[in-house]
Amino acid sequence: MAAFKDVLLEATKEAGKIIHTYFEGNFTIDSKEGINNLVTEADKLSENAIIAVIRKYYPGHSIISEEIGELIKDSPYQWIIDPIDGTVNFAHSIPICCVSIALKHNDDLIVGAVYNPMMNELFFAEKGKGATLNGMPISVSKKTDFKKACLVTGFPYKWPDSTEHPIRVFERFVMEGLPVRRLGSAALDLCWVACGRFDGFWEYNLSSWDIAAGYLIVEEAGGRITNFDGDRYNVFDKETLATNGKIHEEMLAVIKKKA
Ligand code: IPD
Ligand code: CA
Ligand code: CA
Repeated sequence: MAAFKDVLLEATKEAGKIIHTYFEGNFTIDSKEGINNLVTEADKLSENAIIAVIRKYYPGHSIISEEIGELIKDSPYQWIIDPIDGTVNFAHSIPICCVSIALKHNDDLIVGAVYNPMMNELFFAEKGKGATLNGMPISVSKKTDFKKACLVTGFPYKWPDSTEHPIRVFERFVMEGLPVRRLGSAALDLCWVACGRFDGFWEYNLSSWDIAAGYLIVEEAGGRITNFDGDRYNVFDKETLATNGKIHEEMLAVIKKKA
């Protein structure tokens, strides 16, 4: 039986080859819900390649993947796939996009990988064994002074009327005088927290495929990830806060408007 890590990395590399080949090339672009929520030919080819690798080794595992949806099998294992995270960047030839794949066993993420082939950066984590970037161990930043933190966020394509608008929260962080970036790939945002480039990331309304691999990578790099109540995170939560652990409470306070 092939090791989960080997299957994960084979699928990740196959997807990476497709993303790299199509980047700056010609491909069809369609809109999903709303004109700027895009799906390209490369998203579908990447997804097909990933699923083919997983099916070759584990035909009985369940899969959830952004474009195809859920492929349910009677199994405690579920692969969670974003064939291209940062599709808008990809469609505009901005090299901040990646493939993100994780494997969940019951409620636990056990392996995860995020690969940006344009920058040749492969983030990987296995539960209990730490996180790596291109094979080298990584850890979250050591920053304790919230006022000196560098943050990243993202904005959803559609916003539910019932919740506070993300621009208000963004405004509060900016009014604190903090640098806040917006890369356009939630999976990379999480990995860039994991390797210490950013100190914290928050976003509303992400999906399991945006987060699953990055979640494990942040935790294995020593970071903390919760919902906006500070509760233990699960990949189906709609509120995501990931930090180096040291500025978590301050970020929660700003998000919850208690600062
Ligand atoms: C998107 C990216 C983006 C985030 C969006 C996601 P996609 O994923 O992660 O950073 O702000 O909410 O939908 O559509 O490029 O796979
Ligand atoms: Ca995504
Ligand atoms: Ca996607």
